[in-house]
Amino acid sequence: MGHSVATLLLLLLLLVSCFAGAVLGRKAGAIADQEPENAAAVPGKYAVIFDAGSTGTRVHVFRFDKKMELVEIGDDIEVFAKTEPGLSSYAGRPKEAANSMLPLLEKANGIVPRSLMKKTPVKLGATAGLRLIGDDKAEQILEAVRDVVHTKSKFQYNPSWVNVLEGSQEGTYLWVAVNYLLDNLGGDYTKTVGVIDLGGGSVQMAYAISPDAAAAAPVVPGGKDPYVTKEYLKGRDYNIYAHSYLHYGAQASRVEIFKEKNGPFSYCMMGGFNGNYTYNGEQLDATASPEGAAYDKCREEVTKALNLSAPCATKNCTFNGAWNGGSGAGQDQLYVTSSFYYMAADVGFIDDEATSGKTTPAAFKAAAEKICPMSFEEAKAAYPKFRASDAPYICMDLIYQYSLLVDGFGLEPTKEITVVEKVKHGEYFMEAAWPLGEAIEAVSPRKRRQDSGPIH
Ligand SMILES: *[C@@H]1O[C@H](CO)[C@@H](O)[C@H](O)[C@H]1NC(C)=O
Ligand SMILES: *[C@@H]1O[C@H](CO)[C@@H](O)[C@H](O)[C@H]1NC(C)=O
Ligand SMILES: *[C@@H]1O[C@H](CO)[C@@H](O)[C@H](O)[C@H]1NC(C)=O
Repeated sequence: MGHSVATLLLLLLLLVSCFAGAVLGRKAGAIADQEPENAAAVPGKYAVIFDAGSTGTRVHVFRFDKKMELVEIGDDIEVFAKTEPGLSSYAGRPKEAANSMLPLLEKANGIVPRSLMKKTPVKLGATAGLRLIGDDKAEQILEAVRDVVHTKSKFQYNPSWVNVLEGSQEGTYLWVAVNYLLDNLGGDYTKTVGVIDLGGGSVQMAYAISPDAAAAAPVVPGGKDPYVTKEYLKGRDYNIYAHSYLHYGAQASRVEIFKEKNGPFSYCMMGGFNGNYTYNGEQLDATASPEGAAYDKCREEVTKALNLSAPCATKNCTFNGAWNGGSGAGQDQLYVTSSFYYMAADVGFIDDEATSGKTTPAAFKAAAEKICPMSFEEAKAAYPKFRASDAPYICMDLIYQYSLLVDGFGLEPTKEITVVEKVKHGEYFMEAAWPLGEAIEAVSPRKRRQDSGPIH
């Protein structure tokens, strides 16, 4: 009896294992055989965007469905990787520069399904770092990068997609990203929000304007960096005004402000500070006046640096002679990013745990009036979230940010603005930054001919 039970069990075991093997085998075979067909059935498109910044190179891989909604890749909403230092650190060594991004390219290669690679655009935008090393050295590096991207991946590729971004492109792509994340695209331009991004080297503003305002835009000499870009997104045309102000970024503006000091000291420096400020190879004496910082005197230096009375060839100007876009509904709601957000979070006039918050330009002024009378040591102790290298400049930076918004961009001091680092989109918080905007533009369906009016 024991014997027959054992035999039966053995038979059962054999049967089960054969069956399981057959099933597993078929499944595995099916995946291997049908990979191209399956991948083609995966809805939507991928985009691979490299952000070559001054401190590092980053890659973002985004995936969209047919309705241009972001879709998860694995268990996250994008694939991201970065490497340091940035491409500009390899000035004069283009091959090394290009090789530094190989691990990022390999990461992207491993994520996009093989059958979709030829339809997946790969783009690289270089920003401030590469702009600063000079055209020749930057072009050498970009040439080497193009070579690597072209030979070490099978993505859809065009040499002109690996380039230094114009400042206004950075602004336009940020506008696309923020309005996409807020689900504003596809609606009327009057429902979109404007953006002001305070980077390290430059500040840019972008917002949507009416077709009439776009038609009246002043022509930029040389045709470089135009004021208005047309975008077709989610079935709608948008005219996006964007302008970038080189030298007016959070770090670069300090140089401009020091140039306006009245006498041997800047009245923007926190009392008791003794040292130099170095930016982009330039060194300036940053020693505080014996009386310390003074709000009114600093504000004078700052407003002079903004070149508010520069000749305005286009009637309506922001500052430094730039056209203001004509203002309008696309500017009613403003999202301000990068250094504006960090300042608001570090001083504490928004909840520093939150990735965005509402405030006003006046809050920057109120913080300056409170902090400027402090000594450098007092301010460091009272506001420990600031990096040691930024602490001597808290008064200057607050007055600059206030003046930039109110005198530069003409906002009412009491206007509500949103300072943002990340925007909630579905269940994810996504960085308010240009790479997502460039990805959206790269994979958005083009306008069909019959949509574009009569053809002559
Ligand atoms: C600032 O730079 C000058 C000139 O290089 C140097 O003599 C001085 O010691 C520096 N000051 C400080 C506080 O480092
Ligand atoms: C401010 O205007 C002056 C005079 O037009 C010009 O030389 C200077 O470069 C301007 N500043 C900036 C930062 O563009
Ligand atoms: C300047 O701005 C005013 C008010 O916003 C507007 O009415 C006018 O049309 C603008 N002029 C130009 C040349 O853009």
